[in-house]
Amino acid sequence: MAATMMDARITTDKTGATEKTEKVLAHIEELANKRFLHIVSSQKAELLERLVRKNKPAFAVETGTLIGYSAIRIARNLPVNSKLVSIEINKFRAAEARKNISEAGLADKAEVVVGEAANVMGSLRAKAGFVFFDVADYLACLKALESNGCIGKGCTIVANNVMWFADKLAPYLAYVRKSGPYSSVYYDFGFDGMEVSIRNEKS
Ligand SMILES: C[S@@+](CC[C@H](N)C(=O)[O-])C[C@H]1O[C@@H](n2cnc3c(N)ncnc32)[C@H](O)[C@@H]1O
Repeated sequence: MAATMMDARITTDKTGATEKTEKVLAHIEELANKRFLHIVSSQKAELLERLVRKNKPAFAVETGTLIGYSAIRIARNLPVNSKLVSIEINKFRAAEARKNISEAGLADKAEVVVGEAANVMGSLRAKAGFVFFDVADYLACLKALESNGCIGKGCTIVANNVMWFADKLAPYLAYVRKSGPYSSVYYDFGFDGMEVSIRNEKS
């Protein structure tokens, strides 16, 4: 099933924007242009934000922090006392991300863990209400989370770049679209797309 960004099922309530958060995000966008860093586009980030606000997860996880752009966009929309764990394999990028997250006033909401995504996922135990895959083997990561009981009913899983990497991601897409426990929708952004999958059953 395909959907557009204007899908009526997703509410567009207020973001958790503050002046300092906005300043850090603008700084990262500028850096990304200068340094050719692949941060998520603003349109895609808006979808992430709406899904986080809709789902109100107590715990969220993402793969691929880079310098913290998507982590900040997710974390600023989390409910009070909720937390994002963002996994980054490169310790220098992780350090830069931590600095940006802290300057954005979100150090208590987002933790950057250095490591390989699927390995770190395998060590998580908390029930995740929101997952964003932006790098690594999405299927291995999802299966690691499932086998730890981290994917509860209603968990929302967003997979980035599913049009660009359609061949590589074919097994992941077949799994979320056809294996049964997920309802999955493709969001078309023209230049690429994201797959949003909701867990219907307990893992
Ligand atoms: C596309 S960028 C992430 C962009 C980020 N989500 C954003 O929108 O701001 C991918 C990042 O994942 C990291 N990475 C690559 N392979 C990884 C792996 N197997 N596990 C964890 N991080 C990885 C890279 O170092 C890079 O910083």
